[in-house]
Amino acid sequence: MIIGCCFICVFAVLINKVFLDITVVGFTGGSVVLPCSSAEHDLKPHDINVLWRDKDSGNVYDLINGKAFVEQQIPRYKNRAQTFPDEYGKGNFSVRLINLTHTDAGEFNCFITHSADSKLQTVWLVVNEATVETTFLSFSCR
Ligand SMILES: *[C@@H]1O[C@H](CO)[C@@H](O)[C@H](O)[C@H]1NC(C)=O
Ligand SMILES: *[C@@H]1O[C@H](CO)[C@@H](O)[C@H](O)[C@H]1NC(C)=O
Repeated sequence: MIIGCCFICVFAVLINKVFLDITVVGFTGGSVVLPCSSAEHDLKPHDINVLWRDKDSGNVYDLINGKAFVEQQIPRYKNRAQTFPDEYGKGNFSVRLINLTHTDAGEFNCFITHSADSKLQTVWLVVNEATVETTFLSFSCR
């Protein structure tokens, strides 16, 4: 068990190094927070413009002028992508994706376009099969 755990932890570190991006690991049926944050910490609503896109450039979530805008959201993310409105002003535009499936795995891009700061943050989502064993291993890694 301990060897298996270390292998998974080391593997996660290696994935991070290879892509030089953030890697998040979740389990089928579970949820993950896909992180995205700005260096600006005192943002006014009109200056909060963030686009979240998936590996097929599908619309996961938009924040336009500080408001959630889901009209263009593709159906598979409906009610599965949650943002944290209390955190926007602090520059935290992370998205929680719930009820994960294997189809969700892959690249997510967060495009931030403020007047003072524009950047692209890429997050890689790995979705593992939820089994008793993997749940145990992921807990014992912490
Ligand atoms: C997520 O999964 C739960 C439990 O299976 C279910 O009750 C809920 O409707 C699902 N929500 C969405 C948005 O798929
Ligand atoms: C952003 O907010 C989420 C939800 O509250 C939290 O889990 C995450 O740690 C926050 N990230 C930063 C960089 O503060």
